[in-house]
Amino acid sequence: MSTTILWYTTRAAGVVSLVLLTAVVLLGLTAAVRWQTASWPRFLTIGFHRNLALTTLVFLAIHIVTAVVDPFTALGWNAALIPFSSHYRTLWLGLGVVAMYLLVAVMVTSLLRPIFGVRSWRVVHWLTYAMWPIAVIHGFGTGTDRGFAWMLGIDAACVGSVLAALAWRWSRVPPTSWRQVPANG
Ligand code: HEM
Repeated sequence: MSTTILWYTTRAAGVVSLVLLTAVVLLGLTAAVRWQTASWPRFLTIGFHRNLALTTLVFLAIHIVTAVVDPFTALGWNAALIPFSSHYRTLWLGLGVVAMYLLVAVMVTSLLRPIFGVRSWRVVHWLTYAMWPIAVIHGFGTGTDRGFAWMLGIDAACVGSVLAALAWRWSRVPPTSWRQVPANG
């Protein structure tokens, strides 16, 4: 595969991963406030949240593998697996690796929730509040496309929608009630 195709694929998969991750966060917040209508029951939100999260992992894998094998950056696997070890854009890539590990931790504890238990699952799930902004900063810090209006628009839409959803969530469900969510919530 030519290095140009790899580079465009890395960038495109990074943008898609960020948009999907944002949608996953929005659906998670929607599920947390227990929003539903007659035509959109809550289980649809939860199913969508879960399946979109799994889809995000696929695009993230494409983003990372193409970045690693692209001879232009010559990242190597260490850069993708050991935070802040990359010779190329050390800080920004390091943040991407941290976001990746946090996402994997959230996914593993969610898929294996019967083993980890609800309390551990919820504590790890809160890492999402760190993971998502770290992923945004990674993309904004290192992205070749960050200067383009369309990319700025995507970044602004992602940040604006999550901030609005957070305000909605906190206005509907106070933090003290988080501990009372039942095991199947
Ligand atoms: C949750 C994790 C991650 C998300 C959501 C994410 C998302 C993004 C986004 C949105 C961009 C900007 C793309 C553009 O401007 O067109 C980007 C750039 C980049 N990411 Fe990630 N990324 C993540 C993790 C990683 C990891 C672990 C690596 C390690 C190999 C990595 C490598 C890169 C590289 C090399 C770029 C630069 C591409 C460019 O200059 O345009 N990312 N990422």
